[in-house]
Amino acid sequence: MRELGNNIKIAVNDLSVSYNDEGKSGDPVIIFIHGFPFNKSMWDKQMEALKHGYRVIAYDVRGHGGSDTGTEDFSIELFATDLLNLMDTLKIDKAMLCGLSMGGYIALNAVENYPDRFDALILSDTTCLADTSEAKEKRIKTIENIRKNGVEKFADESIKNLFARESFSTKKKEIAAVREMIVHTDEESLCKTLRAFYERKETCSKLSDIYVPVLIMVGEEDKITPLAAAQLMNEKIKESLLSIIRHAGHLSNIENPVEFNNQLEEFVSTVYYYG
Ligand code: MLT
Repeated sequence: MRELGNNIKIAVNDLSVSYNDEGKSGDPVIIFIHGFPFNKSMWDKQMEALKHGYRVIAYDVRGHGGSDTGTEDFSIELFATDLLNLMDTLKIDKAMLCGLSMGGYIALNAVENYPDRFDALILSDTTCLADTSEAKEKRIKTIENIRKNGVEKFADESIKNLFARESFSTKKKEIAAVREMIVHTDEESLCKTLRAFYERKETCSKLSDIYVPVLIMVGEEDKITPLAAAQLMNEKIKESLLSIIRHAGHLSNIENPVEFNNQLEEFVSTVYYYG
């Protein structure tokens, strides 16, 4: 029996995963994958907008929100396997995936390894590139700083880079909510995820194999995964669409949900129509 609602706990292999599940059974499924170090609540506005017409699921990636951390080292491959295990446990054969940043890394890995399980991809504020050696060094420094100065300090430093300049005056409530998400992620999971990032492989060379419809979105002031990263994916993925979200930085779905949702709804409605 399907359980509907928020913060549902389900055992996926040995892991307890927390997820939200709304919309009608039988409608096309959209699975939302959050960025780092946030949780499924970052998709609340998209879940609300899309639940009439789609079965919408947002889950907490292992080590984030209400999902267990488990004992293994983290990797993007492990996160993608968790996603497939969650789909199997929920008996979802096919879904559209919408991932932001880390969520995009997971979505790209999942589509590469399990292409038959997905109808469409929405890649938001993400990149197919691996970390440069400079970025890897920065990750190691960040791990050291988290160990030394704690999660609160890490949250304050992260916030500075996540948003468009104007969001600091127009989106104070949303920024406070994002800060809460960060400080509620435990230190061990933060460090394990940062390690998974610097070890992750590029996926750019695999993008020409993607044959499902793809929408790429990027906040016009995204400093973490900037427009150039979105343009690169757009060039490599056949017939992909690119949409630049105004008044937004890295968290475009939170900073400009109206424009983000309009693009998302228009895109998924065409997938459904042709699919
Ligand atoms: C995210 O939002 O998921 C992170 O910025 C990803 C990263 O640091 O590579």
